[in-house]
Amino acid sequence: MNAVANSKVYIAKRLEVGLDPSNMPNHIAVIMDGNGRWAKKQGFMTRVRGHEVGVEALRRITTACAELGLGYLTVYAFSTENWNRPKAEVDGLMNILMNALEKELPVLQKNNVRLNAIGNIDSLPAKANKKLISVINATSSNDGLTLTLALSYGSQDEMVQAIRKVAKQVAAGDLSPESITEEHIEQHLFTAGMPHPDLLVRTSGEQRISNYLLWQLAYAEFYFTPVLWPDFDAEGLYEAIATFQKRERRFGQTSEQLTVK
Ligand code: FPP
Repeated sequence: MNAVANSKVYIAKRLEVGLDPSNMPNHIAVIMDGNGRWAKKQGFMTRVRGHEVGVEALRRITTACAELGLGYLTVYAFSTENWNRPKAEVDGLMNILMNALEKELPVLQKNNVRLNAIGNIDSLPAKANKKLISVINATSSNDGLTLTLALSYGSQDEMVQAIRKVAKQVAAGDLSPESITEEHIEQHLFTAGMPHPDLLVRTSGEQRISNYLLWQLAYAEFYFTPVLWPDFDAEGLYEAIATFQKRERRFGQTSEQLTVK
């Protein structure tokens, strides 16, 4: 399908689900929270079952974003702090990651999704890291949605790494402290080259950002839902986008300034 035909399909889908096709978020960031509580509520002995079912929710949401023709979906899959969870849960999550990468590759290809990762992916177990890179490479020429997995990711750590790189340029005499701009920091973040998220969705009722994309969420709209991640579905996503569409994004300006063209 060519780009024009594609965009007609996306507009039809946006209208079909009751969204304003001209006011879509280009980038949605998600904190997929509540897997452990979901497993407990369902009577499962292990929290890992919640993460397994969480993969199905991730597939649903990725497919829904691709069908709407969105540009970017970035999900918090494993934080730097998550390494401190019990070993059984960390091992379980790494296995889930490996299996999901194996199983979901055909789905990503079918939906023209490009896989990407941010975070300290070198600290993942070697097999998981290798599998991740192979799926990133296999989907690199897809030009639909970019699905970014934040893995071994922490935003403060990301900023420290970026600042260290800028400091090295200063120490080498290539940059003066006075000439440091936001762009210098930006280009050393894991997300360099990506647009900032327009909308942050967090499931499970918690209302915090937990060291996620602190720099990049500067002007994002926040949407919190009590639904636990394994239960989150396309309808929930449409509701989040509909709420986003009702917000007035002022980027520090006044309402009046926004209406003056
Ligand atoms: C938070 O729920 C969720 C995580 C720490 C992991 C998210 C992972 C998935 C959704 C699986 C898909 C991910 C991969 C690796 C492809 P929680 O465990 O903190 O839940 P709780 O707050 O109810 O305890």
